Amino acid sequence: MQPAAEDMHSPRLSIHRLSRTETDADGEFASDVRRGLSAARKHLPPKYFYDQLGSQLFDAICLLPEYYLTRAEDEILARHASEMVAAIGGERITLLELGSGSAVKTRLIIEALLKRQADLLYIPVDISASALETSARVLLQSFPTLRIAAYASDYDGALARVRESVEEGDRLLALFLGSNIGNFERDEAQRFLRDLRKRVLRANDALLLGADLKKDARALEAAYDDALGVTAAFNLNVLARINREFDADFDLRAFKHVAFYHEAQGRIEIYIESRRAQLVQIRALKMSVAFKEGERTHTENSHKYSVAELSNIASLANFKCAHTWLDEAGRFSSNLFIATDAEGS
Ligand code: TRP
Repeated sequence: MQPAAEDMHSPRLSIHRLSRTETDADGEFASDVRRGLSAARKHLPPKYFYDQLGSQLFDAICLLPEYYLTRAEDEILARHASEMVAAIGGERITLLELGSGSAVKTRLIIEALLKRQADLLYIPVDISASALETSARVLLQSFPTLRIAAYASDYDGALARVRESVEEGDRLLALFLGSNIGNFERDEAQRFLRDLRKRVLRANDALLLGADLKKDARALEAAYDDALGVTAAFNLNVLARINREFDADFDLRAFKHVAFYHEAQGRIEIYIESRRAQLVQIRALKMSVAFKEGERTHTENSHKYSVAELSNIASLANFKCAHTWLDEAGRFSSNLFIATDAEGS
């Protein structure tokens, strides 16, 4: 959807496009597809799920009865947003969000902040420029004193740049909601939070981190393989996207979505499985890819945490875990980390 022209030029909104994954002008998607599909164990990076259709399919996942994560986090934020914001302290807060998507849950935090201060700068980061444009327009309409400096970027690009938008003297509250952290390997998650602490946050700045909790395999597997098939469509959309953008001939009906809980690793593993032996042409990349029957292409992991693990992660990344809130059913956690002055500025 195109944003209204006045929004693009509004003094309340700026959009910085750091990566062009929706047009792939720099060829990064092309080289990741080439590398991932010619590897011995095929894989595709999860950030390519989120083109316009993919972002909307993910919004649909969040409405599914099986995908409890969104509702659980929503319940926590609806109940505790004011308490969370009060626990941060300081004069004025600037709000940063990594992987903001449709930013529906963010509204609860914005409302709590605007009860404490007259106006607010919100810095959303998302890989999908279309998701940013749509969510920014809706937020600016709802909150007349909100300003938005958006970054269409992957996380790495954003960490290097977002500080430019923060006003000196403001305290920063960073949001990393949903199960975004779960999509990193455990050691990568640790490194990422350290990086965020070092490059973006100052002592006493805060991070509100969502993390899905370990639980029985049945509930987890249903959340990643729903009866309606929306998650399957979301996963297979990455092949449809390769068809659209690189003139490939993936027959989507010849592939299926696979998701299972790997108990020892504490993670959901997600694959696309070839239903038969087949050869796929990716014409724009001048490559053909052979799939064996039953061969799997890895597309994502979603790691699950325990509360003890989370407070350990906090201290290893130079935060202290000030508070952890759970939903009533104890399925999901929201963790308020405060940056200690052990490192950085
Ligand atoms: N961050 C989400 C999660 O781990 C992403 C997600 C939900 C996802 N369902 C999926 C990714 C299915 C790939 C396939 O919960």
